[in-house]
Amino acid sequence: MRQIWITRHGESTDNEKGRIGGDASLTERGDRYSKALAKFMEYKKKEFRRQQLAEYAKLVRLIEQSGSEPPTPMSEPEPVNFCVWTSMLKRAVETASYFDENDFDLKEMRMLNEIDAGICDGMTYSEIRDNLPHEYKARMANKIGYRYPGVGGESYLDVINRLRAVIVEIERMSDNCLVICHRVVARILLAYFMNLGRDAIGDLEVPLHTLYVLEPKPYGVEWELYKYNE
Ligand code: F6P
Repeated sequence: MRQIWITRHGESTDNEKGRIGGDASLTERGDRYSKALAKFMEYKKKEFRRQQLAEYAKLVRLIEQSGSEPPTPMSEPEPVNFCVWTSMLKRAVETASYFDENDFDLKEMRMLNEIDAGICDGMTYSEIRDNLPHEYKARMANKIGYRYPGVGGESYLDVINRLRAVIVEIERMSDNCLVICHRVVARILLAYFMNLGRDAIGDLEVPLHTLYVLEPKPYGVEWELYKYNE
């Protein structure tokens, strides 16, 4: 019943212009998504608690009907904690800005930042194709292994590597967790939790303003997605 929620940040001004990387703020549309997201998660948190209590009541009834004593004294389950993790980039932090800190544990993590595009940071794909055709082709030929040139430039494999610790932490904890991140990070997390092969990662569709919820089960994972309709 434990849930992992994943979304990209709301639309940023760089998304509008088709620029990759950067540290832009949200557009008005992105801000509206952020507001809707907080409201929706608030609702989902309450719904989760209702379900938790309903399951507990069912169990109590079953035990009473069976006429046996419960093995240990039973008490209401503790409410499940909800955490919200974001990258340290403005567009992700702003997307979490409408969450009430009394209801959600908010945390910013550098490990969730978007792939560092090195010398291509701030460019559009057509600018890369026209000005750095060699790099453009190299990435097209091997998207997962290609590392952007320049200080700090990363490949998908580098991002997979730095996300290991985040994945271990998500798997370890019993909290429900919402991760507000970026296209590459969301692709990797979704591929991992949905057991998709490495080849699927680079082209996985993860549109803006779409929220995924995953529930790990003993036989695999159940998932659903919610699209924000303005
Ligand atoms: O355009 C948004 C973005 O998150 C960029 O910052 C990033 O470089 C890009 O998507 C990653 O997508 P792809 O690996 O398909 O280029």
